[in-house]
Amino acid sequence: MAIATSVTTYKNYVDGAWVDSASGETFENRNPANTDDLIGLFQRSNAADAKKAIEAAARAYEHWRLVPAPLRAEMLFKAAQIIAARKEDLARDMTREMGKVLNETRGDVQEAIDMTFYMAGEGRRMFGQTVPSELRNKFAMSVRQPLGVCSIITPWNFPMAIPSWKIIPALVCGNTVVFKPSSQTPLSALNFVNILIEAGIPKGVVNMVTGEEEVGTTFTTDERVSVVSFTGSTRVGRIVNQAAAPTFKKVHLEMGGKNVILIMDDANLELAVDGCLWGGFGTSGQRCTAASRVVVHEKVYRKFVDEFVARAKGLVVGDGLKSETQMGPSNSEAQLQTVMKYVKIGGDEGAKLATGGHRLDKGAYAKGFFHEPTVFVDVDAKMRVAREEIFGPVVSIVPCTSLEEAIAIGNGVDYGLSASIYTQDINRAFQAMRDLYTGIFYVNAPTIGAEVHLPFGGTKNTGNGHREAGVAALEVFSDWKSVYIDFSGRLQRAQIDTAEV
Ligand code: UN1
Repeated sequence: MAIATSVTTYKNYVDGAWVDSASGETFENRNPANTDDLIGLFQRSNAADAKKAIEAAARAYEHWRLVPAPLRAEMLFKAAQIIAARKEDLARDMTREMGKVLNETRGDVQEAIDMTFYMAGEGRRMFGQTVPSELRNKFAMSVRQPLGVCSIITPWNFPMAIPSWKIIPALVCGNTVVFKPSSQTPLSALNFVNILIEAGIPKGVVNMVTGEEEVGTTFTTDERVSVVSFTGSTRVGRIVNQAAAPTFKKVHLEMGGKNVILIMDDANLELAVDGCLWGGFGTSGQRCTAASRVVVHEKVYRKFVDEFVARAKGLVVGDGLKSETQMGPSNSEAQLQTVMKYVKIGGDEGAKLATGGHRLDKGAYAKGFFHEPTVFVDVDAKMRVAREEIFGPVVSIVPCTSLEEAIAIGNGVDYGLSASIYTQDINRAFQAMRDLYTGIFYVNAPTIGAEVHLPFGGTKNTGNGHREAGVAALEVFSDWKSVYIDFSGRLQRAQIDTAEV
């Protein structure tokens, strides 16, 4: 039955005002658990809208960069308090528009709260260096400088956490922002922007433009933009990188993953099963950190597989707003089609389907993008299901005979975001920590669960060398300026003159 509600049309936020897109066109935002539920209409913006936003951000930068960082941070601190006060409503909006279960959307909002409080603290730190000069009566230090307009392009799987990871450090450093959220989750983006406005962020400092490729292309090519921070697929990340190259923008990319959990023969198997379920099926597998590969020592392989498959079978799939639901839908029909495509690929290449493998579309599932939790076993590490990112509820289990082999399998993919090992042996844990070429590593925990005060990001096709979160985020959103102050009153030549002893 269609849910009859009056439909709200949401606008872009440009130069301190809520405005329609130039074309006047809109797009629909629907609930992936029930497509009869129309959440709202959002602006289908074009290059003209994107350019206006950039213009506003460039103008506002001249003022915002001079607001003392502790003052900027006070506004952010206030924003964190508002997000915290509204956590439950924000989480409900988020589950409704992107599908993951309420506990997880609460976690997503919490991650935005954590990041905002954390970065507000940076307003009174943002440490540079002071170093001794090699010459007398000369002072040497480095300071962080903002860069200008930052383009922030974000995905739908963490609709508030990821925008906060980018927008908040950009602002505390003194930059201004143009923001294009995913068209699957514009409401959470808008809720976030509304809170920044309420916290006192001045007009033009944050601008949000919803829409598709045309907005993204303008945000990545316009010469007034200095930084592009993008989270999304490796395919699009490559396009962003190329588009931004001719104008030498600083580009931060956070892309795909094919994360691995290694389970050794001495592992606490109960703990490992819990971890693999949470890592593999949390967010319906739609995390860049999802544990989509599990490499298990042959001595415990059968036991682990039996237990894991039984538990995966028992997961309650449904509407994320219902308290009994353990796994929500895929985010969109396209995402679900990708999952189904990989189930077929896995079958064709000889992986053994131990459970799942089907779309759920009867009864309560009829109006959503639901899929069974799916496990492939006896997978060969060379198979596509063991190497390519699926971004859905599909876990591939690969047997191994030693730690060395497990590490080689772990490293044998094009991605390098997160990895983990379950073992009681500290020597094995440290060896795996050292030898797995990823940006994040866990011991006796799954591949998900990063905290905001450590760097987040990965190697190989996952990233381009930058990290977000933690102090590392400041490297993306600021530049170093080295400052030398000579108070000797005479010409002192570095590397040529020698200071008298
Ligand atoms: C993502 O999937 O893009 O560590 C982000 C985690 C979360 C963040 C995931 N804190 O899984």
